[in-house]
Amino acid sequence: MKNTVPSLIAMKEQGQKISQVTCYDYSMARYVDAAGINTVLVGDSLGMTMQGYSSTLPVTMEEMIVYGRSVVRGAPNAFVIIDMPFMSYQVSVEQAVENAGRLIKETGGNAVKLEGGVAIKDQIKAIVDCGIPVCAHIGMTPQSTNAFGGFKVQGKGEENARRVLEDALAVQEAGAFMCVLECVPPKLSALITSKVQMITIGIGAGAGCDGQVLVSQDLLAMSGDFRPKFVRQFDQVGALIEEAYRSYDEAVKDGSFPAMEESYAKSDCSDEFLHELSQWY
Ligand code: KIV
Repeated sequence: MKNTVPSLIAMKEQGQKISQVTCYDYSMARYVDAAGINTVLVGDSLGMTMQGYSSTLPVTMEEMIVYGRSVVRGAPNAFVIIDMPFMSYQVSVEQAVENAGRLIKETGGNAVKLEGGVAIKDQIKAIVDCGIPVCAHIGMTPQSTNAFGGFKVQGKGEENARRVLEDALAVQEAGAFMCVLECVPPKLSALITSKVQMITIGIGAGAGCDGQVLVSQDLLAMSGDFRPKFVRQFDQVGALIEEAYRSYDEAVKDGSFPAMEESYAKSDCSDEFLHELSQWY
């Protein structure tokens, strides 16, 4: 069954936890959807996981559209959220509305996500007023990595904790129905969750949020040595994939692949004819 804004809000009201993972392509989206994950985030983390950049900053609107529409085709039941990339909404409210509209029209996604709190409340309100659901993202916002001086925990100390709560209240007032809390201490994110009606989704924010999100490559152990404290590796899929490629490489090189049953042997002409054929040239 398709997850929707009302069905997700009903889950929060009934105290049911909401699952979310990032996903960037059709083949993976099919596994995510089959597993019953409620919401899929086509995160601009694809700049790092799929493109090998060291941050999310280079990702463009065009790239979000290509990846986004592939995921939508593979995940008919999950609620698909598309990230607005760096500098696609910060310049003006008009720019934000236009780009949010493009992401929804050209991918078929269900909502957009923007990073920031008080500073982008006007953009959130204008997008919501167009009928586009918004997921906000506060705490550690990777698009501001240069301002933060790296990927650092936010909301430490009384003044910063107050600022994160103010951001949460601002994005809710602007109309966000969901908000990612990233790298926020657990008691603070539980307090925020108890204070707001919107759905909170934690990443490195403890168990007190309404749901959790992880980057797929992190939870499948496909991120190499990169392993933040909040990541749990649910299986060693990266190692399994490497092993499968290694076996294929060996089989190609020792000639055991392809076997006869993996060939179109029945369509071959007779040995006599092939012998004749070999004489012609
Ligand atoms: O881009 C992304 O994947 C994200 C998640 C880490 C929340 O924003």
